[in-house]
Amino acid sequence: MLENKNILIGITGGIAAYKICNLIRLYKKSGANVRVVVTPNALNFVTKLTLQTLSGNEVYVDNFEIDEYKPEHIALTESDIFVIAPASANTIGKLANGICDNLLLSTACAFARPILIVPAMNENMWNNKFVQENMTKLKTAGYEVLEPASGFLACGVNGIGRMREVEDIFEKTVAMFSQKQILKGKKILITAGGTREKIDPVRYITNSSSGKMGIALADNAYKMGADVTLISTFGVEKPYRNIVTPTALEMEKAVKENLSAKDCVIMSAAVSDYRVENVSEQKIKKQGGELNLKLVENPDILKEICQERINLASHQEAVAPLEGEMSEGQRGVNIKPYNEEHREAQYNSGTSQLCSDQRSTYVAEFDKQYGTEANEEHREAQYNSGISQLCSDQKSTYVVVGFCAESENLIENAKTKIQKKGCDYLIANDISRKDIGFNSDENEVYIIDKSLNIKHIEKDTKENIAKRILEEIFE
Ligand code: PMT
Repeated sequence: MLENKNILIGITGGIAAYKICNLIRLYKKSGANVRVVVTPNALNFVTKLTLQTLSGNEVYVDNFEIDEYKPEHIALTESDIFVIAPASANTIGKLANGICDNLLLSTACAFARPILIVPAMNENMWNNKFVQENMTKLKTAGYEVLEPASGFLACGVNGIGRMREVEDIFEKTVAMFSQKQILKGKKILITAGGTREKIDPVRYITNSSSGKMGIALADNAYKMGADVTLISTFGVEKPYRNIVTPTALEMEKAVKENLSAKDCVIMSAAVSDYRVENVSEQKIKKQGGELNLKLVENPDILKEICQERINLASHQEAVAPLEGEMSEGQRGVNIKPYNEEHREAQYNSGTSQLCSDQRSTYVAEFDKQYGTEANEEHREAQYNSGISQLCSDQKSTYVVVGFCAESENLIENAKTKIQKKGCDYLIANDISRKDIGFNSDENEVYIIDKSLNIKHIEKDTKENIAKRILEEIFE
């Protein structure tokens, strides 16, 4: 199962350290090459000789003891996974704060591949506010965690804090290796959270979206190898790119600006359909009686990016025959002979080598073939769509996935919505239920494709639902 995998185990000072001897045996039995790095305290619980004998490799404690032409912590990072078990409160705190005062910590700090943390400690320590804050930090930074179990603890009490059994650690490691990299090389843009439309400096219109569904999608896409951009209504600390856009208009702008070269866009954000027309600069005072707020419609981002895809495809189709007759230099302006803005940008970036008379020949050629009227119309459509920063790497084939939040007639409404919006898939969820959807850790969804085929994914954690959605779409 783990043939030829290079596993690095990090052992910290805790009674559960002795159990790691069995973990090493499990890894070795399944074909892995195991190296071990320990904190000095770990050696109070297990000997270097035992770990060395079981792993068949040198065991590392201090910096400056590996006989290689590389700094020690860097040499150790050339492993496929780093499993830190047991992970003490002390090590967790240092990892979460970038402290590197021993070899295990500096190795973790420089480790660019998956890290699995398996905590073990006394119940009160585990429940300590700062330990929990550190755990949250590690999780949000992309560390995998195998949470401790409840049971009899070495300090003589029953409670939470027991290191998970080595069989569980082994299985988790296997699961981490079997994470399919189905999105390797793909660029994905995902939106998350509920937009906040301002009324005045202190009040706004919003909804109950927590962003959990969108973040679960982004986390999973990242683990599957995608280059992820998350556009969310609040900031998150993640190993991928995050752009914060509290309002629908800001989200629209960010989505359009970041559309270039994407393979897929997933709109899981709950975007407000309306915003207040005139946002008050000052806090609105109680005046007695009614207060009327005029709302205006927000852009429908999902619909716009689907429309933009159609515009792009038809444009690329229109210029394709011409492109065939063009020289390399002429290709620099192939997409928009009439779009002054775009052409200027190309001149400035130095990509176009056309001199002005070549340009006019090209434009004249285009006119002859397609007629000036058609070109004007086409240009207008592009301007009107509001997405003018098309680049030569902009794809017209990106997959668009929308979400559909309904409180009644879920499937029926979702079928109508996918046709109206023009996306490839719509993920329908019932937001009238308290146990799923808005602000819940779980969801239950129906994936509807543009041929109106439906796939039901039963209630599960948003993590697992997100994984299933991505697998259904990309496998
Ligand atoms: O964030 P959580 O608490 O985890 O909850 C998850 C969720 C319930 C918010 C999520 O699963 C979900 O259903 N998201 C879509 C919410 C929504 O706005 O649905 P809608 O049916 O109103 O919109 C349909 C689609 O159009 C959505 O993809 C939405 O992002 C998009 N839209 C909507 C309005 C608008 N002005 N622009 C849009 O792009």
